[in-house]
Amino acid sequence: MRIRQAKISDCNQIKITLENSWIDTYTNKLSDSLIDYIVAKWHDKKNLSDQIKDPNVLFLVSLSNNHDISGLITIKVLNNLELFLGRLYVDSKHQQQGIGKKLLRESIQFFPKHRTIKLEVLVANQNAIEFYYHQGFIKKHLCKKKIQTESIQTLFLTKNINGSKCLK
Ligand SMILES: CC(C)(COP(=O)(O)OP(=O)(O)OC[C@H]1O[C@@H](n2cnc3c(N)ncnc32)[C@H](O)[C@@H]1OP(=O)(O)O)[C@@H](O)C(=O)NCCC(=O)NCCS
Repeated sequence: MRIRQAKISDCNQIKITLENSWIDTYTNKLSDSLIDYIVAKWHDKKNLSDQIKDPNVLFLVSLSNNHDISGLITIKVLNNLELFLGRLYVDSKHQQQGIGKKLLRESIQFFPKHRTIKLEVLVANQNAIEFYYHQGFIKKHLCKKKIQTESIQTLFLTKNINGSKCLK
């Protein structure tokens, strides 16, 4: 498995990977109409290419042996100390093979001076929450929000990185 920075020419494949992953992960957790809305709006190709070009976003993809995109991660720089993990998705065929952990570890190595990484995950996505706990994240706070007409509950998690001991 190889990990590299995403390119604009990856946008089509990234969009498909995200769409499949959203359907696999969130069917029965969110309504079909909300999934359709998010897949159309958040994973729009222009949005993805803007993120790939954004100097404050690290966008990495993992490639399977036949060079298909098997997973992806986006990390946004919030300030000199804090990072925000925007997305971490591994295609269902490639899960439980160490790809998610490797994407997370390699991406953090791009930021040796940063001290904290945060993320927000749907409370209903227990599988991801357990994975993040396993990777050393801890619970920060719960949040209620509305997307379209749907109320959802999310959980903020945080992890100290690069030897930082002080939890903020
Ligand atoms: C969550 C996700 C990113 C994990 O990636 P993955 O490649 O399947 O996980 P890995 O194989 O790298 O797992 C690494 C370690 O975490 C552990 N792990 C993985 N999933 C776990 C779970 N649900 N509960 C507990 N531990 C878990 C593995 O056992 C492994 O442990 P080890 O290092 O001690 O051997 C992946 O399942 C995924 O993409 N899910 C769907 C999308 C999603 O929910 N993304 C997060 C949105 S915020």
